[in-house]
Amino acid sequence: MKTQVAIIGGGPSGLLLSQLLNRSGIATVVLERKSRDYVLSRIRAGVLEWGTVEMLREAGAGARMDAEGAVHGGCYLASEGAMFRLDFNALLGRNVMVYGQTEVTKDLYAAQDAIGATILHEVDDVALHDLATATPRVSFTQNGQSHELTCDFVAGCDGFHGVSRPSIPAEVRHEFEKVYPFGWLGVLSRTPPVRHELIYAAHARGFALCSMRNPMLSRYYIQVPLTDRVEDWSDARFWDELKARLPAEVAADLVTGPSIEKSIAPLRSFVTEPMRWGALFLCGDAAHIVPPTGAKGLNLAVSDIHYLSEGLIQFYAQGDPAGIDAYSERALARIWQAMRFSWSLTTMMHRFPDSSDYDRRMQDADLAGLMRSEAAQRVWAENYTGLPY
Ligand code: APR
Ligand code: PHB
Repeated sequence: MKTQVAIIGGGPSGLLLSQLLNRSGIATVVLERKSRDYVLSRIRAGVLEWGTVEMLREAGAGARMDAEGAVHGGCYLASEGAMFRLDFNALLGRNVMVYGQTEVTKDLYAAQDAIGATILHEVDDVALHDLATATPRVSFTQNGQSHELTCDFVAGCDGFHGVSRPSIPAEVRHEFEKVYPFGWLGVLSRTPPVRHELIYAAHARGFALCSMRNPMLSRYYIQVPLTDRVEDWSDARFWDELKARLPAEVAADLVTGPSIEKSIAPLRSFVTEPMRWGALFLCGDAAHIVPPTGAKGLNLAVSDIHYLSEGLIQFYAQGDPAGIDAYSERALARIWQAMRFSWSLTTMMHRFPDSSDYDRRMQDADLAGLMRSEAAQRVWAENYTGLPY
């Protein structure tokens, strides 16, 4: 098989890249290890930066988002019993879109199907070859048959556990990691959200987050020790603990119900440099992981695709490699800013098992400083709604 850009991974990064390139007449083949149903069964976050909203519209995959997504102009930050609203619309004239990542992925598959894109599911043994040459190859098997795909470039959009990142020689790769000493227990329930905007709550018992997918589908998270297992948490225990961490007037309004999904996710930050090696470009979770606190995972993947698609379109249209040559540097500059924001929000809002009384005072002072200072709120809002590309 022959194509221009071989894309490893049929998650949001790979699909968005394929869609944008195909719309510019560039051929792609997407190789996805799992079935489409499996990919779409993953529950992930749901706050889109406005840049992500515009990228999905530009890709022709924004109609359902605009019809069913909710535009939010602010969110709440709470500490112990106190709560304030951070109005990023009033501060910056900017909003975010609350629309589940699963829905985004569904829309991208529909958009790709509509233009007859080539997406191969349930492929195995994907291996990348000759990446340091002008004729890279990808070998893989499907239904027991072995295949080879020749291409000009390879986009590694295969997530943290994919084959792309390890295809860059270890001596070239520089990896940065921070693992947090707690996880998030998340619950999805067919109940009305406790407030129409998100609530990020800091509490002596640990962090809590109130989010939603639509007016009758809520998503709640509480910070738990990494040693906890889902079986330790009955729905009743979850709702009691969530209420205990929310301001009383919010807890009083919380509508509880049976969980339809319940899982624990670890929190860590990870970045690999460089994000390009020869003909291989890493995008999304293949190159970086953020803790979910700032909802930056999908948004960072989309900003990578913004830079890479622009560079590849420039290369194929004008033969000018400037964009792809600058890809790693441009993407990493924005990634490190989002890493810092996610780390600072995680540090400010969570209870660390080994923190001292002084550390906790620092956390309280951080949040109180944000509550008091419009200038601090503006910087926070810039990062939360999305830094420019
Ligand atoms: N061969 C083919 N496909 C693979 C391989 C492989 N060897 N390894 C992994 N994949 C597929 C996975 O099955 C998955 O569908 O690559 C896809 C990677 O998708 P994601 O993990 O969703 O990563 P990405 O597209 O970069 O999206 C980033 O996902 O995890 C969230 O918070 C993260 O929101 C962010 C978004
Ligand atoms: C979610 O809706 O799942 C969500 C929202 C905001 C976050 C993290 C997760 O910061």
